[in-house]
Amino acid sequence: MYKVPFVDIPRHYQKIKEEILNTISDVIARGDLILRKDVEDFEKSMASFVGTKYAVGLNSGTYTMFLALKALGIGPGDEVITVSHTFVASIAVIVQSGATPVLIDVKEDFTMDANELEKAITQKTKAIIPVHMNGRMCEMDKIMEIAKKHNLIVIEDAAQSLGAKYKGKMAGSFGLVGSFSLYPFKVLGCLGDGGVMVTDSDELAEKIRLLRDHGQKTKTEIVCFGWNSRLDNVQAAVLNVKFKYLKEYIERRREIASIYTQGLKSVKGVNIPPAPGSDSDHFDIFQNYVLRAERRNELVSFLKEKGVETLIKDPVPNHWQKGLGLSGFKLPITERLADEIVSLPIYPELDEEQIQYAISCVKEFYSK
Ligand SMILES: Cc1ncc(COP(=O)(O)O)c(C=O)c1O
Repeated sequence: MYKVPFVDIPRHYQKIKEEILNTISDVIARGDLILRKDVEDFEKSMASFVGTKYAVGLNSGTYTMFLALKALGIGPGDEVITVSHTFVASIAVIVQSGATPVLIDVKEDFTMDANELEKAITQKTKAIIPVHMNGRMCEMDKIMEIAKKHNLIVIEDAAQSLGAKYKGKMAGSFGLVGSFSLYPFKVLGCLGDGGVMVTDSDELAEKIRLLRDHGQKTKTEIVCFGWNSRLDNVQAAVLNVKFKYLKEYIERRREIASIYTQGLKSVKGVNIPPAPGSDSDHFDIFQNYVLRAERRNELVSFLKEKGVETLIKDPVPNHWQKGLGLSGFKLPITERLADEIVSLPIYPELDEEQIQYAISCVKEFYSK
């Protein structure tokens, strides 16, 4: 038992238990299990929140990007540029579509280095997948400008960044497609797997709706081959309950990040993420609070002994994972970050005492 667990789903659940159970019971009593009103309601809320014309509920953030690539006809012979410093799904979808991933480096804030982008573009490049890591958006103005110049499609991997903004505009609303994960630990998570794509394109929204449901336009008309990758109606109903609290969840994450900043800013040995509000271009939602730490592995062991659970998400960069066959890339910042990064617990239910305790443990480690 950790004093400060890395995530705390039971505590989260306790706060909304009654509402969730009532909703699930209502959905089952109605018999509304697949693609019913709750999915439509969720899609409307999402589109309106992000500021796009459409949202389409899917079974995961992975399939959101995969179906987008399929719908856009990207496949063998094409190249898609993304980063290595991401959850492997951002790269996997490119490989699974049949296209070739081209990986570029990130900046010190863990987001795609737009200055590296143009160098990676070839005759074969069809799309860019910028990844808004940890709740912080990429420099989308620069990325969109380059994409426009070279006529490339942009699919934003916003799995970790629902509600984040860049220069006042929401994650997911810059590219042709925005992709979100609704995995339980995300800022808006359901009770299992889920994802949602957003777009302004009538054609693409319609195509993704078909692809998520085996190409069935109606019960009797099948217009193309597709997949089964629908968002469950019961998950959508749960998400509709949690949507009411989304802004609150984001505010609390930003509040916790401010407390971490206050506590850790003068600690020698750790590099902390930019504080909320410290730069007017970025509105970060702190899906993760990632430190760059000296003696990182020792710190993690020390915190574990003290009862503070941390996570090192990518100790080996994706392009160095032996099974993936991506070893041709040289990405100095990504490679260095893999040795430095560690995530501290951050979620709305963390209480003041836990946050201060985590801070005091980090301080104690670096005072030795
Ligand atoms: C950056 C990123 N992209 C894609 C995904 C995939 O989302 P899902 O797990 O819903 O398939 C994740 C999930 O953690 C992610 O963090």
